[in-house]
Order: sequence, then structure tokens, then C-alpha cells
Amino acid sequence: MDINKLKILFDEKQIQSRIKEIADELNKFYGREEVIAICVLKGAVMFTVDLVKHLNMPLKMEFIRLSSYNGGTSTSGKVNAVNIDLPDINGKNVLIIEDIVDTGLTAKFLLDFISCNFHTKSTKFCSLLDKKATRLTEVDPDYYGFEVDDKFLIGYGLDYDGLYRNLKYIGYMDKSDLE
Ligand code: IMP
Repeated sequence: MDINKLKILFDEKQIQSRIKEIADELNKFYGREEVIAICVLKGAVMFTVDLVKHLNMPLKMEFIRLSSYNGGTSTSGKVNAVNIDLPDINGKNVLIIEDIVDTGLTAKFLLDFISCNFHTKSTKFCSLLDKKATRLTEVDPDYYGFEVDDKFLIGYGLDYDGLYRNLKYIGYMDKSDLE
């Protein structure tokens, strides 16, 4: 794959200003209530770090690792809980932070896991990107940054075969350039 063929969809400025808007909404919603932010690794790492810097409530950060891709460009259809070690979040306001909701299988897996194992005070789901057209479940993020088309996106946490998560922007490749 030739990274020079990546077309920019959202540049750094667009991403950062949208994150600030989401943070404003979250600050308004939670007020001074304590929040447990759960970052879903690896994809949500960039978004989480930038988002939490704008949050004003007392906040704890947790990290879990789920995976549904096998290194390619489409989901395996099966969510793999690589590490889902969470502290006691009973009675807490839980904010799940994801990079992208595609089929929604990962989101559903995690929401089911939390509701089966804990009685939280609230559980909200926040995703930077929402690929609504490819949804296979009824899950919808409570907060999202941008709705995106069914393209393979790369950068700002999103990888191609483990690469390019470090880009400051989000781009896409035409399918023919993904070989
Ligand atoms: P879902 O379970 O199908 O909703 O997929 C969720 C996960 O698939 C995300 O957290 C991403 O890690 C990955 N994913 C979905 N779409 C893309 C994409 O366009 N580029 C890179 N990773 C993606």
C-alpha cells in the first residue's frame, strides 16, 4: 500500500475543533460528577487523550483492549477481548470511548459486557467516527464526532495492518490502492 495515495478526510484542525465541541457537551452533561472513561485500545488512544484534556469533571481513565480485525480491512465478525480487566465500576458514570463504530459488534459486545457485570450509574458511548451505513447491530453512539461513508479510514488511531495510527489526520484509500 502506498501511503502517498491517502486522501485526507479530516485534517488536524477539524478533528481538534470537533473534539472540543464533544467535550463541551460532555462537560455540560456530567457537570461535577465523577466519570470513569474507558478507552478501547488500540484505535481510540489518540481520541481519548485529546478528549479527556478538555474534560473538567473528576475523571479516572481505564484501558481495555478489544479487537475484531485480523490485520486486514474488514471485521472478522467476532470480537476478541484481548484485555478487559476493569475495576469495580458499580454505581459509576461510565464513558466508553471508541475510535469508530462500523458494524457495531465491538460496541455491542462491550455494552453487553458492562450491563451483565455491573450496575453503573450511567453508561454512555462516545465514538469519534460513526459509519452508520455498515451497521449490523442496533447500537448507536450517544456522542460522535463525524458520520463517515463506508471507506477504509486510516490515521489518528485507525490503522492499516498496525501502521499509521500516529497520523494527526484521518484519510482514506480507494479500495484499488489498498493492496
Ligand atoms: P465494529 O465492531 O465493526 O463496529 O468495528 C469496530 C472496530 O473496527 C473499530 O474500533 C476499529 O478498530 C475497526 N475499524 C472499523 N472501521 C475501520 C476503518 O475504516 N479503519 C480502521 N479500522 C476500522
